[in-house]
Amino acid sequence: MTRLSSAKATPLVGMVAIPGDKSISHRALMFGSLAIGETKVTGLLEGEDVLATAEALRILGAKVTREEDGRWKVIGRGVGGFIEPHEVLNMGNAGTAARLMMGILASHPFTSFMTGDASLCSRPMERVMKPLREVGASFLTRSQGRLPLAITGAVDSLPTEYVLPVASAQVKSAVLLAGLNAPGETRVIEPTPCRDHTELMLRHFGANITVAKNEDGGRTITLKGQPELTAVDVNVPGDPSSAAFPIVAALLVPDSHVTLTNVGLNPLRTGLFQTLQEMGGNISIENQRIEAGEPVGDLVIKSSNLKGVEVPPERAPSMIDEYPVLAMAAACAEGQTRMTGLSELRVKESDRLAAIVNGLKACGVDVGSGEDWMTVNGKGKPPQGGAMIASQLDHRLAMSFLVLGMVSDEPVTIDDGSPINTSFPGFVDLMNNLGTKIS
Ligand code: S3P
Repeated sequence: MTRLSSAKATPLVGMVAIPGDKSISHRALMFGSLAIGETKVTGLLEGEDVLATAEALRILGAKVTREEDGRWKVIGRGVGGFIEPHEVLNMGNAGTAARLMMGILASHPFTSFMTGDASLCSRPMERVMKPLREVGASFLTRSQGRLPLAITGAVDSLPTEYVLPVASAQVKSAVLLAGLNAPGETRVIEPTPCRDHTELMLRHFGANITVAKNEDGGRTITLKGQPELTAVDVNVPGDPSSAAFPIVAALLVPDSHVTLTNVGLNPLRTGLFQTLQEMGGNISIENQRIEAGEPVGDLVIKSSNLKGVEVPPERAPSMIDEYPVLAMAAACAEGQTRMTGLSELRVKESDRLAAIVNGLKACGVDVGSGEDWMTVNGKGKPPQGGAMIASQLDHRLAMSFLVLGMVSDEPVTIDDGSPINTSFPGFVDLMNNLGTKIS
């Protein structure tokens, strides 16, 4: 346990690069491991979650190494080419790694055992097992479909058509990855579009994948099975979900002026930026470009007086990981911020809805909540703070409450900052170099 305390910051000033995108980093290593040839990855997130994925892929027979120049090299085994693992695959804290890996293993005809930390072992896996049984995989799990589990992949995998019951990129990706090693076409219909890194990157590796827009606003993704994936270079952009913390901090701490370089701007990830701009946040984008199929740019943030807004439920998939830090911004804004459509927050690394509400109350903020909504009533001035918050193995909760401490009257303390290393190694130094006081 590493206790961290955040006290009132001095103005945040400077230009920094944000660590690589977690979603894209997991996928770059996984897809490189399924490709033929040598994939070079630049800007990989070297957080604990991604390192766990690298280790699992090694156990499955891929060669995954870090080069001296900081790039990562993956020598893949081809689609369907993994070997039976002789060890338990430990996916650490990462739901993405666990669920995508289950998709891949569903069409490998052997048994694998998978586990994770206490947070991951409490998260629902039935949402991926249901469609993967249709592919031909079978599972043995702890009660309520939780990890640790055993997965036996199909001998002859079947293509499937699956309508996503929840807007989850992890479920979508698991089905598509299972379909890679099945003959014919695998189809996923998503009623609400969610992050499409799997679609973009599989295409980058040479898969035949089409995306059609449906009349109801959803999308149908069709993948032709059994492609030969070919190794390609991948440049991982900075993670917009990690950028969210210095962005909100710079907006809240008076007289701040921060530039964040090379941030991923995939439109299915930028709901927070739009919301903060609607609240009056001064965020501008410079130097926009496309890298490996993904839009990226530099963000310039200047401190702003924020106002409460209504965040519509249909925006949730494009900012699902950002509600904790948005709630901190809302706590300092003038007026009420109402967030609805939040049921997925209950099954993240922690029950984030409950954790945000309880933590903000402990910091003297007026909040309301229900099963899938939350209101935060800001007074347009710093909240009282002064609380000790349990981070519950949840990196984003930990960083969010540290951001609140940067503007609160009293410092905010978290009981354990170590989960931050899963997604944002170097967070404390990066923030303190900009002007914060985390100790
Ligand atoms: C992710 C999808 C999201 C997100 C997670 C990363 C991904 O989860 O919360 O941090 O990389 O596919 P869901 O698919 O459960 O919404």
